[in-house]
Amino acid sequence: MMNKLKAVIFDLDGVIVDTARFHYIAWRKMANDLGFDITLEQNEQLKGVSRVHSLNQILGWGNIQVSQPEFEALMRSKNEHYLELISNLNQEDLLPGVQPILDYLHQHQVPFALGSASRNARAILRGLKIDGMFSAIVDGNDVTKAKPHPEVFLIAAEKLGVAPDQCLVFEDAQAGVEAANRAGMRCVGIGDQNILGKADYVFSDFSQINTEFINQHILTD
Ligand code: BG6
Ligand code: MG
Repeated sequence: MMNKLKAVIFDLDGVIVDTARFHYIAWRKMANDLGFDITLEQNEQLKGVSRVHSLNQILGWGNIQVSQPEFEALMRSKNEHYLELISNLNQEDLLPGVQPILDYLHQHQVPFALGSASRNARAILRGLKIDGMFSAIVDGNDVTKAKPHPEVFLIAAEKLGVAPDQCLVFEDAQAGVEAANRAGMRCVGIGDQNILGKADYVFSDFSQINTEFINQHILTD
């Protein structure tokens, strides 16, 4: 029988809330303004990746070099555009099946944390009115090494007071799945099996995950 885990770590963008498309819109607009385009396929490589790394990657694709002040300005304007796009975010933007899973874990006193690359994470959770449910929040402001480095998940486990191999991670990004694997955590991919094949399990969204699956993997009381 599979050993049961004690805690859960959620990625944010693309797992809890449908913000991944807004990151794409904002980066794409920036690329277009610089005279090139980015594809959905390229966008997969940006998921889970920090703001700085994303911009470096995109400028590389466009074969564009910028000065440090220009780099900072591009990051700032992308983020302003992104914040504009998510300014009306509300509970309807929670991805299908998320709220019931959070409620279920909460009811059964399973501690859970956020492990996100985003520096906007806390504001987003507040906007969704679910920030109070998390035992710990670790985001892009708390780490020095971006996913696929496992740092964000290791800090989350530490804050939860559990060993890394006692955590179940939910991730929608290749970089995030790799980070969970490197942290020694069990990982559920949310999205496409062809993209997230390195996760232990893959579901298209949370509405496909029933309480039986949760009980099978997590110690509920
Ligand atoms: C990740 C997203 O969660 O956060 C990436 O998947 C994003 O697309 C990264 O670039 C950083 O987010 P932010 O909000 O700090 O720009
Ligand atoms: Mg994500």
